Amino acid sequence: MNSWKHEPASRRAAILQKWHDLLVAHTEDLAGILTAEQGKPLTEARAEVAYGADYVRWFAGEALRIDGEILQAPSPDKRVIVLKQPVGLCAAITPWNFPIAMVTRKVAPALAAGCAMVVKPAPQTPFSCLAIAELALRAGLPSGLFSVVTGEASVIGPVLSTHPLVRKLSFTGSTKVGKLLIAQASGTVKKVTMELGGNAPFVVFEDADLEAAVTGLMVSKFRASGQTCICANRILVHESIRERFTNLLKHAVSELRVGPGTQESITQGPLIDRAALNKVEHLVSDAVAKGARVLLGGRPHPLGGTFYEPTILDGCTPAMELWHEEIFGPVVALYEFSTEEEAVAMANDTRVGLASYVYTSDMRRFWRVGEALEYGMVGVNTGAISNAAAPFGGIKESGYGREGSSHGIDDYLTLKYLCLGGIG
Ligand code: SIN
Repeated sequence: MNSWKHEPASRRAAILQKWHDLLVAHTEDLAGILTAEQGKPLTEARAEVAYGADYVRWFAGEALRIDGEILQAPSPDKRVIVLKQPVGLCAAITPWNFPIAMVTRKVAPALAAGCAMVVKPAPQTPFSCLAIAELALRAGLPSGLFSVVTGEASVIGPVLSTHPLVRKLSFTGSTKVGKLLIAQASGTVKKVTMELGGNAPFVVFEDADLEAAVTGLMVSKFRASGQTCICANRILVHESIRERFTNLLKHAVSELRVGPGTQESITQGPLIDRAALNKVEHLVSDAVAKGARVLLGGRPHPLGGTFYEPTILDGCTPAMELWHEEIFGPVVALYEFSTEEEAVAMANDTRVGLASYVYTSDMRRFWRVGEALEYGMVGVNTGAISNAAAPFGGIKESGYGREGSSHGIDDYLTLKYLCLGGIG
């Protein structure tokens, strides 16, 4: 591990670039493994391989730009120098919804910075992580720098979050588990990056291009069958366009194809497990009991297993549990608003702040609402905000730290200040 941090940045970058190339070259194999263990359709699995590989390419570039600074000194006999150094051994606990991309988004910046990384993938999806770790070795990464520990979270998690040798912990998952890990990691004062739960509002104003808004909503809501932290969770639609928007949406949702992800024509795979299905069923029945109307779906899919019908619920209100809870399933919950102020207040009515979306064609509104939304990320006229160049992350109870972009390497580095005196 010590020798890795002393490798020239160009060598770390070259190995990461080779790893990227191998990930891309093995897209079909990796997508097959991903779909088999996670359930998402093959087209989405291939897209995830590309998305995950892109973080590796991105951080191969960032490895070359870990520059320090020379600052203005307080007196002529001194120089103030700032070095950036690798934080040390890192650990990552990754989720089952993106078994490749959430691993590369953490491992690539760690390796680029000169750190070693131990990953605990979700127990539901260990094989994708093991496969990409093997490709990292084939790319020339010295063994021991990217280790994978599979098994039960309750056993491995506390070791990673409390071990004094681990200097940084990165977690993507629920706010509940994130809070627990923050508490555990505080005992040894680790750096922590937390990508926690969301409750994304998707606001459609009366001046929006409605066809584009429906397309964006489909992308945001139904990716991974609704099981992402940035899925649109509360769809706020201006009262004057509600009927037109809903009709377009019904048409788009009825075209989704549910089934095993291994079949090429399928657009919606199963939910990850029975607990996920039970949660969606519970949230839908709570909403219906409190007055929501089912426009489409609303039940487990006739295919059985953990398949759930793509669903639209109209007439939703903040009294329903799905106002506060991440649905994590293929359910569109429609709410109505009448003014911009009301829309912003509704959108911000949550303890979390990860992703949010706005559709408008008014540039002044774009600025006003974009600035007023209490979220780490705002998609304006798009439902697809994730990419390696962007700082992915949230505020409030969605966590802290950013992944991707030039900021994504910061949490794997520490600043050291050298004060050089006696210069004369
Ligand atoms: C997540 O759901 O945690 C990540 C989604 C993404 O990277 O787009």
